[in-house]
Amino acid sequence: MIDHECFPVEPWQLRESSLGLAQLAQTESLFALSNGHIGLRGNLDEGEPHGIPGTYLGGLHEVRPLPYAEAGYGYPESGQSVVSITNGKLIRLLVDDEPLDVRYGDLRHHERVLDLRAGTLTRDLEWTSPAGKAVRVRTVRLVSFTHRSIAAISYEVEALADDTRIVLQSELVANEEQPPPSDDPRVSAALTNPLVAVSSDQDDAGAILLHRTKGTGLLIGAGMDHLFELPDSAVLEQDVRDDWARTTIAVTLQAGERLRVVKLLAYGWSGSRTEPAIRDQVSAALTSARAQGWDGLVQQQREALDAFWAGADVYLEGDPVLQQAVRFGLFHVLQSGARAERRAIAAKGLTGPGYDGHAFWDTEGFVLPVLTLTVPHAARDALLWRHSILDKARERAKVLGLQGAAFPWRTIAGDECSAYWPAGTAAFHVNADIAYAVERYRAATADEAFDRDIGIELLVETARLWRSLGHHDRHGTWHIDGVTGPDEYSALADDNVFTNLMAARNLRAAAAACMRHPHRAEDLGVDPEELEAWRDAAASVAIPYAEDLQVHSQAAGFTRYREFDTRGASFPLFLTVPYGLLYASQVCKQADLLLALHWCGESFTAEDKARNVDYYERRTVRDSSLSATTQAVMCAEVGHLELAHAYAHEAALIDLRDLQDNGANGLHMASLAGAWSALVEGFGGMRENDGRLSFDPALPSGITRLQFHLRWRGALLHTDITHERASFTADDGDLTLLLGGEEVLLPSGSTHTIALTPRTALLPPPPQPPGRAPAAPER
Ligand code: BGC
Repeated sequence: MIDHECFPVEPWQLRESSLGLAQLAQTESLFALSNGHIGLRGNLDEGEPHGIPGTYLGGLHEVRPLPYAEAGYGYPESGQSVVSITNGKLIRLLVDDEPLDVRYGDLRHHERVLDLRAGTLTRDLEWTSPAGKAVRVRTVRLVSFTHRSIAAISYEVEALADDTRIVLQSELVANEEQPPPSDDPRVSAALTNPLVAVSSDQDDAGAILLHRTKGTGLLIGAGMDHLFELPDSAVLEQDVRDDWARTTIAVTLQAGERLRVVKLLAYGWSGSRTEPAIRDQVSAALTSARAQGWDGLVQQQREALDAFWAGADVYLEGDPVLQQAVRFGLFHVLQSGARAERRAIAAKGLTGPGYDGHAFWDTEGFVLPVLTLTVPHAARDALLWRHSILDKARERAKVLGLQGAAFPWRTIAGDECSAYWPAGTAAFHVNADIAYAVERYRAATADEAFDRDIGIELLVETARLWRSLGHHDRHGTWHIDGVTGPDEYSALADDNVFTNLMAARNLRAAAAACMRHPHRAEDLGVDPEELEAWRDAAASVAIPYAEDLQVHSQAAGFTRYREFDTRGASFPLFLTVPYGLLYASQVCKQADLLLALHWCGESFTAEDKARNVDYYERRTVRDSSLSATTQAVMCAEVGHLELAHAYAHEAALIDLRDLQDNGANGLHMASLAGAWSALVEGFGGMRENDGRLSFDPALPSGITRLQFHLRWRGALLHTDITHERASFTADDGDLTLLLGGEEVLLPSGSTHTIALTPRTALLPPPPQPPGRAPAAPER
């Protein structure tokens, strides 16, 4: 748990006022900078001490064996892992021959600030060496949103005593020592020293190193260049080897004198381009960075973020803790996808090696809903990535004896990497989640070209999967059996309500896309029989319902299972309870039926929702970080606003408070994005239905005002919500909204205000399983 005394609550930044060595790995994740292409963990400039050193490139991965004690048909034989590549953020400082190392000497002051508007990480420190020489250091780091391949660091040292001999070593280092990736020696062997040197070059002020990944053979170029502000007496040296390059500056400073170096970094990688091409690309990026200069890069970073916040900010009154957390989350969500450009957005973004760097349904289910309405081009790029792995998904469907495309449960480059078959060969809902993201993107942007060229193919191929997976029983009802839904404490269930409703929606969306683009449908081989079959399946989908309890059954038979007593249990349950028992009990790892209520809300009445929330709240243990957001949204909808507020805090603070004790491995992007959903969809009551946005706001007592902004078909919507009223303003275009069930046209520049009445709940707030009530919102 992060000691939050060192992290004051501030609206636009995350400030660590003193260095917590015990939390170094967690803060490296919190302070990670990325643009979706380059990811730099918040490692200290001098590299040591560290929790987990990390420099990543989106999509860059190594293969490793997936060993099985008992193999089975269709099990993937190898997995993919993100690898840490050439580290360019290393700058070592020696003061009178003694290396700056915060563990030695006297660290008189240490502060790090992640500025969410500037897009920079600033570090200020004052250190006295063991021999008694004091220096002041200020570093500012950024990963550019405007220049995809560029990162930069400004490093400034001030001597606090006369005759201080300073040596600065600015480096590129490949194959940095890492904590062991796995206990399995085969996996460790594949991932230790994953880079093979290809070539190295240097000039007066920098160097370029080319490496290849051992197994995947991907070519990586890393380059550094420097801009100096040095006294004339400074001595400069360059050295380069296979796995490292170093620029050294030696100078003697008098008290008050400074030396400043701006380090420019450029990265590129490719699986198909040649060495000269990558080297030139890196070199060009460095020249371009030089042309912008430090000030230019800083200014462009600020402008990019100004534009982002203008259409994405969430402003809160009454809850400063949540205010900080939701902006922190939005910033990281932006970082994960802004310039990913047809590479996977991983569950941890590029903030750490957790989950091997894999992307899951988290992307389409939780991250894209935010990006679609705030940075639509990033959502488009993420869906283009899915489209780019369609052939692999088709191949996978074949292996599984199915039609269409079976998208991987977890992957970096498109191949199924789940060694757990109830996920890798049964959690098919990922297909429908992708289809839903495609539909949401189309609704929000009216991007006709995307719909025709990309969207339709994703919809058709995922629809084909559902048709081949489902079947009609002798009464005509359509079932999907043997699947794993979002709740992974159930597996191979029949008629999982979430999966069935999402599959039905997928089938209808595919049919509608074919009607919009008949020629494309023909190209894709869709005939009238297929269209009819999709519609028919969707119309007759099975939705299990327990009449006696008057609730939906998460899957067939679920409500008949034994209850699971969590008293005395330790969480997450899967570490201490056998899966067999979890599967046979009414205990949900995460929102599943509740997610169906959220995403497929039109299929349920208000009374259904109230009863289902009541039933499943009592059985959901939130052993996944994906859960709290859905619980927040649904609790808000049925009127448990205070409970929803607690869940919103949990989703937003997942990493700032390290609530799952695993923030060291990277941030939880789905939960951070989910904090936005908790506020916008939960308290703002935003839903999208049939291409229309509707709002039904209600605030909990602890939030007195909520404002948010989003982009819809080229226009900008500003909302302003209090307990008494809600205002909606259109900008840059007209908007049509559904407010209180009525269609309201908002011409650009106009505001419409509605009065709000307090929301009443049909049922009292439900309890959670013992030991799993969410903490009350932090004050
Ligand atoms: C959750 C999955 C999720 C994965 C990655 C698991 O614990 O149960 O739903 O996709 O984590 O975040």
